[in-house]
Amino acid sequence: MTKPRILSGMQPTGQLHLGNLEGALRNWVRLQEEYDSFFCIVDWHSLTTLYDKPEEMRENTRQVAIDFLSAGLDPDRCAIFVQSHVKEHAELHLLLSMITPVPWLERVPTYKEKLENLHIESPSYGLLGYPVLQAADILIYKANVVPVGKDQLPHLELTREICRRFNFIYGDTFPEPEAKLTEYAVVPGLDGRKMSKSYDNAIYISDTAEVTAQKVRSMFTDPLKIYRKDPGHPETCPVFALHSVYNKDQTGEIEQDCRAGALGCVDCKKRLTARMNEALTPIRDRRAQLEENPGELDEILTAGAEKARKVAADTMAEVRAAMKLE
Ligand code: TRP
Repeated sequence: MTKPRILSGMQPTGQLHLGNLEGALRNWVRLQEEYDSFFCIVDWHSLTTLYDKPEEMRENTRQVAIDFLSAGLDPDRCAIFVQSHVKEHAELHLLLSMITPVPWLERVPTYKEKLENLHIESPSYGLLGYPVLQAADILIYKANVVPVGKDQLPHLELTREICRRFNFIYGDTFPEPEAKLTEYAVVPGLDGRKMSKSYDNAIYISDTAEVTAQKVRSMFTDPLKIYRKDPGHPETCPVFALHSVYNKDQTGEIEQDCRAGALGCVDCKKRLTARMNEALTPIRDRRAQLEENPGELDEILTAGAEKARKVAADTMAEVRAAMKLE
């Protein structure tokens, strides 16, 4: 019995934060045990918005790789690689672009949002084609399952449509991949909104224990709880939401004491910080080791790309044959 295959990707837009860690990475770490796993740092995708920041992209790519490994992705169990190291993705992207109608792409909600949010008046060809490149990433490994957040569902649906169209025109080549949504507690940022790099409210995996403590001290709490004795409303408090992620055993007691006016925000934050730092210390230690050994990181990424390229090259041989291109 061969294991089903998963592939997922992450953009190197910056260092990863606790939302990425708890929302995606921890889940990937579990999945690598059960699946034949491929995890890709999609630097070409980031060029759709960061095309004028090559230095930044290069550094971000390394940092994300370090975050992957520190969180527990194991290069002996899965392939960890950089998209641009496996050129086959570009060839498949080009071929898929020939059978993808432009109106399918113009309908994609993330595309429309990007144009609005980033005030892009003259979108690039690459930005429009972003989901075609994502389809290539997935199909080139014949992935069965794609673990993603729900913001990615439209991209997955498009991948499936492109997959069916290819199979219909050229004969069965790719299995239809399925999205695997992860259930997890949403990690709130310092201001109570979703944790996000662009909101400037994130705690990063790379933050030290001191920086983490200081960020937690600055967090918003229940605005109606001014003194310790004021009854709090944990259901609206981002500090409490973080307790539910990092301090599961004590949430019942904390909830009670907060409501009863027996626990003040300062103490509550101290307890949270202690538990967070406990959970994050092993990750930070591995991070520091990898930062000190750039050669080791290069070797891991080279080996990951080789593993990925073997599969990708086989698929491309099949694709060229199906399309009568050899
Ligand atoms: N679009 C994804 C994101 O922004 C990143 C991505 C690129 C991806 N290729 C992928 C995710 C393939 C899953 C599978 O999060």
